[in-house]
This record gives sequence, C-alpha cells and structure tokens, in this order.
Amino acid sequence: MENDIILDVQHLSHVFRLNRKTKVKAVNDVSFRIKKGEIYGLVGESGSGKSTVARCVMNIYKPSGGEVFYKGIPVCKNREFQKNRKMLQMTRQMIFQDSASSLNPGIKVRDIVAEPLRIQSRKIRTDKREIEKQLEMVGLDGSYLEKYPYELSGGQRQRVAIARALLAKPDLIVADEPIASLDVSIQAQMVNLFRKLQKEQGFSFLFIAHDLSMVRFLCDRTGVMYHGGLVEEGTTKDVFSHPEHKYTKALLEAIPVPDPREERNRRVMKCNEG
Ligand SMILES: Nc1ncnc2c1ncn2[C@@H]1O[C@H](COP(=O)(O)OP(=O)(O)O)[C@@H](O)[C@H]1O
Ligand SMILES: [Mg+2]
Repeated sequence: MENDIILDVQHLSHVFRLNRKTKVKAVNDVSFRIKKGEIYGLVGESGSGKSTVARCVMNIYKPSGGEVFYKGIPVCKNREFQKNRKMLQMTRQMIFQDSASSLNPGIKVRDIVAEPLRIQSRKIRTDKREIEKQLEMVGLDGSYLEKYPYELSGGQRQRVAIARALLAKPDLIVADEPIASLDVSIQAQMVNLFRKLQKEQGFSFLFIAHDLSMVRFLCDRTGVMYHGGLVEEGTTKDVFSHPEHKYTKALLEAIPVPDPREERNRRVMKCNEG
C-alpha cells in the first residue's frame, strides 16, 4: 500500500438486520481512500449511508463485508483491532453532529477536554494551562474552563468537542455532520476553524455533510453517496464543476441560498417534513 494513504476503505458493506425477515442494506460496496493531510468530504442525502460508513471506519459497527485499512492495518479484523486498540483510540477521533449528547453533561469543560487522555490513563498532567491552550486554539477563552455544557451555545459546545478531539493529537478525524445542527452564520465560522486547525496540525479529515456549500470550501476531494453506494468521487473542483451522476447534479442544485432568511425558511420546512 502506498504509504501516503492513511485510510483505505475497500468494498465496505453494512446490513442492519431489523428482524428475521427485514434487513436494510445501509452501505453497499463502498471504496475510497484518504491521503495523509487530506480533507475528504462525504456527502449525500439523509439515509444514504454516510453515518454507517463513519461508524464502520471508527469500529463502532462491524461491517458485513469489506475492510477498512487504517495506516495499513485491517481494523475490522478483531485481532488487529485488539492488538492496536490504544493506538487506534488515540490517533482516530470522532466528532458528532449533536455535541449536546456527545459531551458528558455532568462535568465541566476542562474535564471534558481532558477526557481522551484520562480514558487512556496516560500519565500526562492535564494541567489547567494545557487545557486553556486547547480551548484558545478553538476560539474559546479561559472563562469556559469552569462551565458546564448546558451553559454553552451549540457552536461553543462543538468547539469544545473539537478541542477534546484534538488534545489526543489525532492523525485522522472523522466528523459526522459536525455543523449541521448549527446556525448558518456559525457554520461558516466552524468550517474556517476546521480549515485553520487542519493546516496547523496536518491531520487527515473525513468530513461528512448533507449539504454541499461548506464541502466546496473545505474539502480537497469529495465522494457522493446515494442509497448506500458511492456514486461519484473526485477532486472537489471536478465534482462541483462537472458532476457526472444525475444525483450529484440534483444535490448541487440544492445548495443552500446564501440568504439567512430564506435559509431559515428552508430549515423550518425541513423540520416540518420530519
Ligand atoms: N441502527 C440502525 N438500525 C437499522 N437501520 C439503520 C440504523 N442506522 C441506520 N440505519 C438505516 O441505514 C440507512 C443509512 O443510514 P445512515 O448511515 O444513518 O445514513 P446517513 O448518515 O447518510 O443519513 C438508512 O436507511 C437508515 O434508516
Ligand atoms: Mg448521518
């Protein structure tokens, strides 16, 4: 394997068995690669299988078929996973859409940010100054150290989630719609933050989104998912300027209008649709 590839997803499939008769083919024969330091956007409508791919990549789900190679290690093989568990837990970090539920509500920001190191029981002193630096990096000042998640806005909570993910100095970050639940104005700030942090720290980044406007700005390459399959892939520029698949064209036409009022109406409509 070329050693500039950090993540190599090969023929990944995942089936959810709901009962003896019913199964859902959530992901079907998906293959893609992410290079070191690359930002890869995975887009597609809700239900197309993006989260399932992310969860297979992170060993949250065991795929029904295919393999995920991380740094050349076939991580879906139980033995390989166990053998490399500590390294995998440290160097791969995940950020979820809804940080309200991924942050422990009962502990202060300073302890939330320090969590990955404590989980690893590494003998590293997570002193206040270190955590403060971590918060500064994501644009929060020291006054946030002593706050609880409920005292923060959605954007601030997401910054805390990013600070936590970055404390482990990861080589790969998987972010599953990390900005989807934020206001449009905050979304742009967050995407700028991701860009800045990626430049500074050089991690590889799997960025999952269901709308394309931020992906266009952020991602080096983009893959488009549709009904469990990866229907199109290429440099973001190519995918956006010459979409091949009719579904990609439809997605591109659905790019949000950069008018906040209109955007809000669209959102209200989406919510009403369920
Ligand atoms: N835990 C689950 N149990 C059963 N079906 C699921 C589960 N998670 C996802 N699915 C189904 O798998 C398909 C892909 O879902 P998902 O990966 O969440 O898509 P996306 O993240 O693109 O919205 C959908 O049809 C969804 O209903
Ligand atoms: Mg999802």
